[in-house]
Amino acid sequence: MFEMLRVLTKPAIRRRSHNFFVNSASVIASVDLRPSRSFSSHQGGNMDPKKFALPARYQGQEKSVWVEYIQLALETKPLNLGQGFPDYAPPAYVTQALSDVATGDNVLLNQYTRGFGHPRLVAALSRLYSQLVRRPIDSQTEILVTSGAYEALFSTIQGHVGPGDEVVIIEPYFDCYEPMVLTAGGKPIFVPLRPKTESGVKSTSSADWVLDPDELSSAFNDRTKAIILNTPHNPVGKVFSKKELTLIADLCLRWDALCISDEVYEWLVYPPNEHIRIATLPGMWERTITIGSAGKTFSVTGWKLGWAYGPASLMTNLQLVHQNCVYTCPTPIQEAVARGFELELGRLDSPECFFKSLPAELEAKRDLMANFLADVGMVPTIPQGGYFMIADWSPLASKVPLNQEKDKWKDYRFTKWMSRNLKLQGIPPSAFYCADHKPLGEDFVRYCFIKKDENLHEAAKILKKWKGSSL
Ligand SMILES: Cc1ncc(COP(=O)(O)O)c(C=O)c1O
Repeated sequence: MFEMLRVLTKPAIRRRSHNFFVNSASVIASVDLRPSRSFSSHQGGNMDPKKFALPARYQGQEKSVWVEYIQLALETKPLNLGQGFPDYAPPAYVTQALSDVATGDNVLLNQYTRGFGHPRLVAALSRLYSQLVRRPIDSQTEILVTSGAYEALFSTIQGHVGPGDEVVIIEPYFDCYEPMVLTAGGKPIFVPLRPKTESGVKSTSSADWVLDPDELSSAFNDRTKAIILNTPHNPVGKVFSKKELTLIADLCLRWDALCISDEVYEWLVYPPNEHIRIATLPGMWERTITIGSAGKTFSVTGWKLGWAYGPASLMTNLQLVHQNCVYTCPTPIQEAVARGFELELGRLDSPECFFKSLPAELEAKRDLMANFLADVGMVPTIPQGGYFMIADWSPLASKVPLNQEKDKWKDYRFTKWMSRNLKLQGIPPSAFYCADHKPLGEDFVRYCFIKKDENLHEAAKILKKWKGSSL
């Protein structure tokens, strides 16, 4: 086994160029993501549909904004600012590394690797995060490599949440948190970030979206198993301050709760804001599982590689879930990401470092988007981090024939109308709220700004033209 791992970690010698870029739209187009649940006698003989119905733990979770809006995009072919991925090439050294790995002399790099994380990658992650959280992180016992941050969330929630456990979820939230808690048998307790926006302003900041300390405190009790934190935040772009994180940390300590900290946008923070890892707050390492994503870190979301790190005592539960569903993640991708990290580890303080150059590039895109949204009359929330922007479109409500769409929530009707008629697609933020709180998201739309400048300018043109014709 050790011999195999040693060979696996040997750097590839040969370098060859290979085009790995695949048009994401064509990938999406080739897959019908709509759930198919009909059982006819022709397809399934005499199978009893009741017997093969969706298991109870998944019932009620059939609706997915991603399935619906990918389908909508295929039908309406809009300029798609909905989904969160770049529409331009990732850094060449990362894609080149993948090409080198796949075609290099070390053929074993195309075979299975260590289940909890490829040795070269966990070594790189350990070097990086030991610096960032200012404590040694054991590459073998304190890190788990997963199929995207998504699986890190899944393994954490499945591994720690059981029937009767309550999990505090801050709204709006990355939409998989709720079904993941429910399928684990847990009970989500929702606490919304509330905007303290004054009327009449042209724009606002994600810092203005705040938790009510009393509301948050009252969500905790003896049954609280965990809180899910997301900073920098999707979709609001909030970067939680030290004071806000301290409030959360104090509640975790007081109620003996775990903090699941989704930090996939950890490098995308705009000055003067700073990303603070809650695991670094006093007493929090012992009760925090932090989650990251190679997709977000290196702009390769299609690679679907992520990780979780935390104390060994908490990580064993995640490892167990992982070994029984995924077991091991793709070796070439792990090796390529490891090489990417090794390069960046050597220049973390330099402006050349991708973790610095990407946010600098995105800040200009953020400002461009904020300006054109404000120009058309929406009220954008300027994000402190991440690559999403939400905007209040309600000042334009009278200009949009919302009754043309049938959906219950206004933001669904607004975004669908925009996709069909203006050919510009955003995502309805009410999807990121629980059923009772959906009205809190109805006045907003979420756009993604990690897109080519020409596409952002095109979006500006579409909105400007619409403004000229309708306002
Ligand atoms: C907040 C948040 N967490 C987790 C994920 C999932 O990341 P991955 O693509 O690495 O699974 C995303 C992806 O958009 C996200 O926005």
